[in-house]
Amino acid sequence: MAFAESVNSENEPMQGVTARNKPRILLAASGSVAAIKFGSLCHSFCEWAEVRAVVTKSSMHFIDKTSLPRDIILYTDEDEWSSWKKIGDGVLHIELRKWADVMVIAPLSANTLAKIAGGLCDNLLTCVVRAWDFDKPLFVAPAMNTFMWNNPFTAQHLNSINSLGISLIPPTTKRLACGDYGNGAMAEPSLIYSTVMLHVNSRSQPL
Ligand SMILES: Cc1cc2nc3c(=O)[nH]c(=O)nc-3n(C[C@H](O)[C@H](O)[C@H](O)COP(=O)(O)O)c2cc1C
Repeated sequence: MAFAESVNSENEPMQGVTARNKPRILLAASGSVAAIKFGSLCHSFCEWAEVRAVVTKSSMHFIDKTSLPRDIILYTDEDEWSSWKKIGDGVLHIELRKWADVMVIAPLSANTLAKIAGGLCDNLLTCVVRAWDFDKPLFVAPAMNTFMWNNPFTAQHLNSINSLGISLIPPTTKRLACGDYGNGAMAEPSLIYSTVMLHVNSRSQPL
């Protein structure tokens, strides 16, 4: 794939496709316990890509900010509103949608899955998805308790997002953070990273 030219959060032109050789990955976390692994995921991607991060309010209960790469730009719902003052200012979710070549939501909570499946957009993460260009890859790595995973809503919502072209990195079966044993644990960060990297590299054109 060719990497998109876009704007940064200050609405200034960024490097064009010919001037850069790193993909721009927008990493997002929603409110699953598996968000404790978000720092590790960010570190992996930062070795290979330009990375920006979006987090939901709930996910921040699980993310230790000191585990994140020091120079990563982390966006919250507050940034969406504080960065807009008047007509003509950039709108953060649109800027991020333009900036990113690829989006990866890991972990994807049951709630955010349901919202994406229904087209809801009441926070920064879901607004980016609602504005997403589905010609660009979007990966999700769900993480939830087995009861939630096995609930019929999950299959319905996965069918909906699959029809949009969103790629699923399936959860695994193991002892979950709550002590239950079953399916619903987020795929390991190393698997998420390698899945995305292989996909992007297989579509890359020489720059
Ligand atoms: C301690 C705790 C752990 C949770 N773990 C999960 C989880 O692993 N997966 C999930 O889908 N929801 C989990 N939830 C519920 C979500 O955090 C909740 O649905 C929240 O509204 C998700 O918001 P978000 O999708 O905007 O991040 C958990 C809640 C709590 C309090």
